[in-house]
Amino acid sequence: MGAQPSIRRGIRGWLDERVALGPFVKAIFLRHMPVGLNWWYSLGSACLLVLGLQVVTGILMALSYAPTPEYAYDSVRYITYELPFGWFVRGLHHWGASAMVVLVLLHLISVFIMGAYKYPREAVWMVGVGLFLITLGFSLTGYLLPWDQKAYWATTVVTNVLGTVPVVGDELAQLVRGGTALGIVTLTRFYAIHTMILPLTIGILALAHVALVVYHGVSVPPGLWHRGVGKPGAPAPEPAPASYQERYAAFKAHGPRFWPGIIAEDLRVGLVVFLILVGLTVFVGVPLDERADPTDTAYIPRPEWYFMAIFESLKFFPGYLEWVGAVLIPGLLVLLLFLVPFLSRGEERRPFRRPLGMATLAVILLGLAGLTARAYMLAPPAEVTEYGVVLTSKQLRGRQLVQQEGCRSCHVIAGEADAKEGEQVKGPLLDGIGERMTAADVHLFMERPKVFNPEAEMSPLIPLLTHEDVDAITQYLLTLPGEALLAKGGTDERAARP
Ligand code: HEC
Repeated sequence: MGAQPSIRRGIRGWLDERVALGPFVKAIFLRHMPVGLNWWYSLGSACLLVLGLQVVTGILMALSYAPTPEYAYDSVRYITYELPFGWFVRGLHHWGASAMVVLVLLHLISVFIMGAYKYPREAVWMVGVGLFLITLGFSLTGYLLPWDQKAYWATTVVTNVLGTVPVVGDELAQLVRGGTALGIVTLTRFYAIHTMILPLTIGILALAHVALVVYHGVSVPPGLWHRGVGKPGAPAPEPAPASYQERYAAFKAHGPRFWPGIIAEDLRVGLVVFLILVGLTVFVGVPLDERADPTDTAYIPRPEWYFMAIFESLKFFPGYLEWVGAVLIPGLLVLLLFLVPFLSRGEERRPFRRPLGMATLAVILLGLAGLTARAYMLAPPAEVTEYGVVLTSKQLRGRQLVQQEGCRSCHVIAGEADAKEGEQVKGPLLDGIGERMTAADVHLFMERPKVFNPEAEMSPLIPLLTHEDVDAITQYLLTLPGEALLAKGGTDERAARP
């Protein structure tokens, strides 16, 4: 027993002589923190912890992911449905990406409200804004990697919008896509950016950010800072005319050390975040759409929720001006964000005494929230389920055509017909048609009924509709279960797919 401390001392001595970790350990773990910190101060470290989680889960997925249009989708399917715990790793990475955006935003907002970007922390703020942008870059590039419909069409929208930028638009879109259309080069490029360029940049910036935070120390909460350190209950002293450094040192002198109290608090917040991510992964799961189909122009693209505001703002601009909403305004907002420490230089840090800053923040946040809400309210539902089958965009288009073309005046489709009271339905029941006809026959019949059946009464759908339309209708009709299934309560085995 008595030998242990000396062994530890021996190891520490050995290390100290060779690696000299002492000063680092002291500077990071044994540094004094100012008094009065609360859990808002743990948001930064929560970002760091989620970043760590993204790195680990990202590397695990990279071991099984193939960044080519032929195999990307299948490899993601494999990760999600076959690889042991693949769904868990992918789920954590998926929800971790959202968590990262939320935490970085909350951290940024709380730092803004507390005026913690002011002297001497201007550089910490600016590096932080850089980290925020890189986080969004990760989302944008990561979104394409599963190469499903959602990925493909959302990225198409993004690159098309880039193309509307005046003068350099075409070149810009070409550069991002690596060609005129989304394809193998785009995927390779996004993958390289997502797994090499951005991780390297975020690593360097995060290190700089943390080093600067350690160097300057964490800011004192604004109320306390202006009141000054005094014994609780004693009359609040006027801000002493001391220099910033002297005042800050006084707060530190009374404060706790980072280890173990503060770090425990940080880890607690990190643990809560982690448990929320596990909950989302287990109970909500992780989406994987149909494989990307570049010919499916009926697909309605949807960006990730944190890009919804930008996406929605595009609707206020005519097509050729889309870049104003997508590039110019966000660009100006980012510039504004970078310049915050120089636009607001006063010593006042209490939010209630900075009405201009708080009003600006409120306007921007309300604007973003309003646009996001509008996007969700006006957007068509992301998926329509009929008889337990989630319809693809093509099938949805078919469903819409069946409605438009008045097929129900002669047919019962999905259990419904439009024939007038007392009138006979002229055509056969189309529910369950897949059980008696092949897709090719259904398609052929609708195109030219007489070729298929010389006695047919139904008029041909071509040339009124295109071949693609007829294909969409066929695909839709084939999802409809027959009467028997409907009577049973209408689920069929196709619904059982994950
Ligand atoms: C004017 C009435 C009428 C309308 C409108 C009509 N159909 Fe028909 N349809 C028929 C009749 C009658 C048949 C049976 C074969 C025949 O006599 O042509 C038929 C047969 C079919 C068949 C083959 C089914 C089988 O069992 O052989 C399909 C598929 C079909 N219709 C789809 C459609 C679709 C889709 C629309 C809408 C775009 C549509 N029909 C509109 C009357 C109509």
